[in-house]
Amino acid sequence: MSLLITNIGELVTNAPRDAVSVAVPGPFEAMANAAIVVDGGLVAWTGPAAAAPAADEMVDAAGRAVLPGFVDSHAHLVFAGERGAEFAARMAGLPYSAGGIRSTVAATRAAGDDVLRSNLSRLAGEMLAQGTTTFECKSGYGLTVADEARSVALAGEFTDEVTYLGAHVVPPEFDGRATAYVDLVCGEMLAACAPWTKWVDVFCERGAFGPDEARAVLAAGAAAGLQPRIHANQLGPGPGVQVAVEAGAAAADHCTFLSDADVDALAASGRTVATLLPGVEFSTRSPYPDARRLLAAGVTVAIASDCNPGSCFTSSMAFCIALAVREMRMTTAEAVWAATAGGTRALRRTDVGHLGIGARADLVMLNGPSHAYLAYRPGVPLIAGVWRSGRRAA
Ligand code: NIG
Ligand code: FE
Repeated sequence: MSLLITNIGELVTNAPRDAVSVAVPGPFEAMANAAIVVDGGLVAWTGPAAAAPAADEMVDAAGRAVLPGFVDSHAHLVFAGERGAEFAARMAGLPYSAGGIRSTVAATRAAGDDVLRSNLSRLAGEMLAQGTTTFECKSGYGLTVADEARSVALAGEFTDEVTYLGAHVVPPEFDGRATAYVDLVCGEMLAACAPWTKWVDVFCERGAFGPDEARAVLAAGAAAGLQPRIHANQLGPGPGVQVAVEAGAAAADHCTFLSDADVDALAASGRTVATLLPGVEFSTRSPYPDARRLLAAGVTVAIASDCNPGSCFTSSMAFCIALAVREMRMTTAEAVWAATAGGTRALRRTDVGHLGIGARADLVMLNGPSHAYLAYRPGVPLIAGVWRSGRRAA
């Protein structure tokens, strides 16, 4: 069945016009008064509404905007419990610390698979309803061989983008024995998780893992066939970004506290995306990353939610886009690109994040005439429809 969506006020494609076939996302691109045809789950045609070919089924967008589905390249959705009181205390003046992770670890270890699965299912549904059609999901709240293995297996029930984050923090039973824990992460735990996992990640930060430990974890993951990504420079300046670039990581995530050398290294790498997570700065009342400095240096920037119970419990990419525009001074086009094509780069994918011919037909329709409404109308439920592989999904 082919589907024509016509009378689109603005169609964001992130693909060059008039291209016959587009294999990868290009720069931000949008056309007014447009239409799109989907066939076999893929984009078959885009162009002016007046020139649209017929299809088996037709949807009238009535002037609404249509965008590629959001690609959320950073989320921690396998957990039990919640930390609302910790958030409230933070808003009353306490600082965020990585230590809070341990309370979620305790709740996650105590939970049955059914509880973890239903929590994950609820959050994945929440994401889809808000226009996220591709998401990455990390382990990292189990931190035993069995609990990390079940975390990645559960994540794999909901997404292909599964990340092994055994190196989230050192769990309490390894207090004073960080080296032994890193050995476990690089050994038995990795072996148990690798079959379910595309990515290896490490929280490289004071209070979590240092640069040598991070290098060891990424190298062990790579030897097991996993691709590296990293939590870097979130809570203060540090070596995380340099470790990411050295390791050829797909992305360095957070990038809140960067030196000139870090920005230069990201720019020179040509392959490590800087993923900014402005929901974290909102929810921890921290300074926002300097997106303009990264963009000026030519670094590829992605935006993701970091949905997790501690540092940022939002699943809304629209909210992150609004923060990126208002607080990080990204243009509306830059922010939407970062939340679609940028996330795609950060996941080393080519099939999503754009609407070039042959791309996966993952679409979001907005209750508004342009992509700018995502930041112009913050906090408003703007999603009028979501299609995944050409099928109506929400
Ligand atoms: O990306 N930085 C480390 N991990 C999460 C926070 C997890 C938590 O506080 O539970 C993050 O912000
Ligand atoms: Fe994170």
